[in-house]
Amino acid sequence: MSISLSIENLEVVYGKARSVNGISLSVETGQIIAIIGPVGAGKSTVFDAVFGLNESTGKIEFEGQDLRKIPPQKIVELGVAYAPERGNLFTQMNVHDNLLTGAYRARKDIKKNLELVYDLFPILKDRKTQETATQSGGERQMLSLGRALMSSPRLLLVDEPTIGLSPKVCLSIAEALGKLNKQHGLTILIAEQNANFALSLAEYIYLLEIGRITRHGTSAELLKEDVIRKSYFGNSNESGDKA
Ligand SMILES: Nc1ncnc2c1ncn2[C@@H]1O[C@H](COP(=O)(O)OP(=O)(O)OP(=O)(O)O)[C@@H](O)[C@H]1O
Ligand SMILES: [Mg+2]
Repeated sequence: MSISLSIENLEVVYGKARSVNGISLSVETGQIIAIIGPVGAGKSTVFDAVFGLNESTGKIEFEGQDLRKIPPQKIVELGVAYAPERGNLFTQMNVHDNLLTGAYRARKDIKKNLELVYDLFPILKDRKTQETATQSGGERQMLSLGRALMSSPRLLLVDEPTIGLSPKVCLSIAEALGKLNKQHGLTILIAEQNANFALSLAEYIYLLEIGRITRHGTSAELLKEDVIRKSYFGNSNESGDKA
């Protein structure tokens, strides 16, 4: 089994505050892994560190290569894509042009990748020429994922893909991520407050609280712990059944 992403002893300090306090985690090629944790736990800070968007210390490697000294555009070229929290899209552009902004490092794959994105999210194909400012939250989330896929990544970082979305749209996003993993072999690291969503997709989960990983295990292992079930899965009964 080869390692896709390896993070060791990562620390990020903003001013006097230690937002990420020495975390380690690894993602094997072909896995879906989730980092779950509450508001302000440090999830986005970890993702930003992978892309060199903040100052951090510790080890960050992708497929054995040190990412610490590589600029974000080069990291995309190496095969890592980032769908950031709330999409961060160009709202004055239409859907199609937003997708193309993700393709500048993988021009030869544009046709294939557009087909993949429009096949995963047919609603984007129907709304190709719509200005992103007028899109729904769910459509924007799909577009954000789509744009990340336009760089032909082998590892996708997805930050809170379900934030503010209805259960039905969450399900479409989960299906798309599942398909990308199973049918296209994409390795995926998800950050989520929505623990049930993470549980439905990820084979291994890290719980991040106030900058530290306080628990990690398979979904089944974490569900066995009453305190975790109560706090994160909205369910405190002994059987672990979903309410
Ligand atoms: N650029 C920054 N400058 C100062 N503090 C920051 C900065 N970015 C994040 N923080 C702080 O770091 C901590 C972790 O923030 P982060 O955005 O990583 O949390 P999160 O787990 O992604 O939360 P959420 O689920 O709300 O998105 C928070 O206390 C936040 O206020
Ligand atoms: Mg965040």
